[in-house]
Amino acid sequence: MILVTGGTGLVGSHLLYHLTQENDKIRAIYRTEEKREHIKKIFSYYTDDVQYFFSKIDWIQADITDVPSLEPVFKNITEVYHCAALVSFNPRDYRKMRQVNIDGTANIINFSIEAKVKKFCFVSSIAAVGNSINGKPITEENEWNDNDENHGYAITKYGAEMEVWRGSQEGLDVVIVNPGVILGSGFWQEGSGKLFTQINNGFKFYTEGVTGFVSVQDVVKSMLLLMESNIKNERFILVSENKSFKEILFAIADGLDKKRPTIKTSKLLTSIAWRIDWFLTKITSKEPLLTKNSARSSHNKSYYSSNKIKDVLNFKFMPINDSIKLITKNYLS
Ligand SMILES: NC(=O)c1ccc[n+]([C@@H]2O[C@H](COP(=O)([O-])OP(=O)(O)OC[C@H]3O[C@@H](n4cnc5c(N)ncnc54)[C@H](OP(=O)(O)O)[C@@H]3O)[C@@H](O)[C@H]2O)c1
Repeated sequence: MILVTGGTGLVGSHLLYHLTQENDKIRAIYRTEEKREHIKKIFSYYTDDVQYFFSKIDWIQADITDVPSLEPVFKNITEVYHCAALVSFNPRDYRKMRQVNIDGTANIINFSIEAKVKKFCFVSSIAAVGNSINGKPITEENEWNDNDENHGYAITKYGAEMEVWRGSQEGLDVVIVNPGVILGSGFWQEGSGKLFTQINNGFKFYTEGVTGFVSVQDVVKSMLLLMESNIKNERFILVSENKSFKEILFAIADGLDKKRPTIKTSKLLTSIAWRIDWFLTKITSKEPLLTKNSARSSHNKSYYSSNKIKDVLNFKFMPINDSIKLITKNYLS
């Protein structure tokens, strides 16, 4: 039986739908009923027969940081897709991220070894790959640099990868994917989904920072292909295209038939904005809208290469503008 962690999140929920197409029994863990129910909305983007596919999932309530809750989860499990993580750029979440992303992954690896799982797929991130050398596109070969520039999320995703490699040393066959910013439907108040909501609400600002983007469908497809293949103990960057935030925001605005953002923000303006926001969160204890890390990332220009997965699997990525068209259609539905 296949196990999915993080099945109530963006990657995990789209993955679960695709797994239900070819498998009769899939197990997934969840934490709250509300999040589990929301998966039906994701399934509805693909099918009219939501209940049929949803009923193929054997749900167990568990938390990856709570070892006893994981005991019943691994019974008869042969394959694991580990998508659960805490994704945050808020420095206040650093300790919690270490617990969920590193310790939680260590727990899932330990149970997988114990259960003699045949293959394990881990969703890492481009955040856990090293920086560009001499301006060349970043590949899987770029080593992680241990320096003060790394933000908490990146450190914990790198730490999680180390746990996965430790698992491979202990005999577990693993594959790791390192996606860029994942674009997908259904989570409109979190992650990249928030961009669609903000543009819909008339957000006016853009930067010319560049990073790698990929559709959730391509992330899922490549995970399934890697798990079916004989490939093991390798990692793969998943980036369809390197694009500026300006291009992405403009494409979203066009798809939603809204006005494109008009105000280009300078590095100076964003550095003032995150400091004001930081001060406001100190006195109101609200979640920050902009952090030092997200402000800096919005201006960075990082280019990634996905030639490895293109060569090894002959993988063809969906153009980013096509995925934005699909997502804006779902947003308006
Ligand atoms: N989104 C992106 O742009 C992006 C880019 C690159 C890599 N990634 C990676 O892709 C993976 C999936 O990300 P996503 O975008 O799908 O994230 P997401 O939508 O925030 O989903 C995270 C999932 O992890 C679960 N989770 C968090 N803490 C948990 C815990 N202690 N125990 C059990 N489950 C827990 C959440 O459960 P609840 O629903 O109960 O909260 C949710 O199902 C992550 O590893 C992330 O680092 C994401």
